[in-house]
Amino acid sequence: MRAVKGMNDILPGESRRWQRVESAFRSTMERLGYGEVRTPYVEPTGLFVRAIGETTDVVEKEMYSFVFHDEPITLRPEGTAGAARAYVEHRVHNDEPVTRWFYMGAMFRGERPAKGRYRQFYQVGAECFGDAGPGCDAEMIDALVMFLTDIGVASPDVFINSIGSGQTRALYTEALRKALEPKKEALSPDSQRRLLTNPLRILDSKHPADRAALEGIPTVLDFLSDDDRAHWDNLRRHLDALGTPYQVDPHLVRGLDYYGRTLFEIKGAYDILGAGSTLVGGGRYDGMIRSLGGPDVPAIGFAAGLERLLLASTVEAPQSAVDVFIAPLGDTATAEALVLGRQLRRAGVRCEVDTRNASLKALLRRANALRSTWAIILGDREVSEQVVEIKDLGRHTQTKVARAEVVGYIQSRLAEAPAPGDGAGGLDAGVAPGAAAEKP
Ligand code: HAM
Repeated sequence: MRAVKGMNDILPGESRRWQRVESAFRSTMERLGYGEVRTPYVEPTGLFVRAIGETTDVVEKEMYSFVFHDEPITLRPEGTAGAARAYVEHRVHNDEPVTRWFYMGAMFRGERPAKGRYRQFYQVGAECFGDAGPGCDAEMIDALVMFLTDIGVASPDVFINSIGSGQTRALYTEALRKALEPKKEALSPDSQRRLLTNPLRILDSKHPADRAALEGIPTVLDFLSDDDRAHWDNLRRHLDALGTPYQVDPHLVRGLDYYGRTLFEIKGAYDILGAGSTLVGGGRYDGMIRSLGGPDVPAIGFAAGLERLLLASTVEAPQSAVDVFIAPLGDTATAEALVLGRQLRRAGVRCEVDTRNASLKALLRRANALRSTWAIILGDREVSEQVVEIKDLGRHTQTKVARAEVVGYIQSRLAEAPAPGDGAGGLDAGVAPGAAAEKP
């Protein structure tokens, strides 16, 4: 049996790196006042159709939808619609004017698998409800750049655009349709279809014929209403004040229909990810809460593909899974080893006890393979003399320690010199917050 195409097993050798990036993300979001929301992996199919848009690739082609006991349900292709549904369902707006939520978890899209593109993939993301100010947009983008720098993504590139709110968007969509209609025959088949269903999507087509047809076409920024323009100008002013570098990309439209005003993407690691280099995508979706039956509450959010972050990040997995490896020789020693193992773990020490009754040579080979800092050897003689032999596997030294002193001995040695990159504390991720990205 094999895993389903496009869905991957993440074994502990890899998942330790995942945990480091996840905890760096958690730490970033908690320092921004965000709390974790956990929504179901399945939602009513109608939620995604309504929120994401009927003519998007995600809804048209990529959703894992099925009917279960007469109920049409879908494995979530993204996290925003579910978060917005939960916000409305729990009437969160009654409890607080601004709500900040983050999430991490699996998403499902039936895309063609490639490097950095999977059918089950993981996102870390966040949504902020209730703050319409462009400062909220700027702060989110800036925090993302900090986070990416913290996990060692080299020079991430930020691209921003505004597609205006409802009215602007409608006017521009019509203008775009008019401008492209005479060139219809020159467009790719996909874009010819989109000219009818969703002309904005033509803007981010990579097809050379479409790129040529788009030359000289008016940009959405020429169509912004006064309010939309003020929001856009202030967003850039705030980003400038923060010193966050960005590029304006008037062709940025993104693949989901719920956006209005600010859109952004962060790309990077082009050498590793190639064309699929979008690490983070996000934007404003001020109309969604209302369209789901809630009040008029503005919203903005983003999501990043965890696999892509990991491909781009220099964060390293902890070197070892345990601090102490206990090697008992014989049954009496095994009973004693189990007690000692439990005592060490209660004191916060990571410890493996090997009860295979293997030879000392095999046990030490295993201790070295685990990159344990110490091996504790327990034979019948040690048990009767109430001592243990502690081998420092890095320094190649051996010390006899009284059985009653072992836990204290290991604890104080660990406090003296935690293994590099193995600390459980700090940012939990083995990376220093803002270390590489301090700005004035
Ligand atoms: P999205 O652009 O569809 O936006 O996805 C965000 C990120 O998820 C992408 O930039 C990419 O890193 C990752 N991603 C998407 N599809 C795949 C895939 N098949 N395999 C691996 N990674 C993938 C959203 O999902 C929006 N919900 C973001 C948002 C939140 N906007 C507002 N709030």
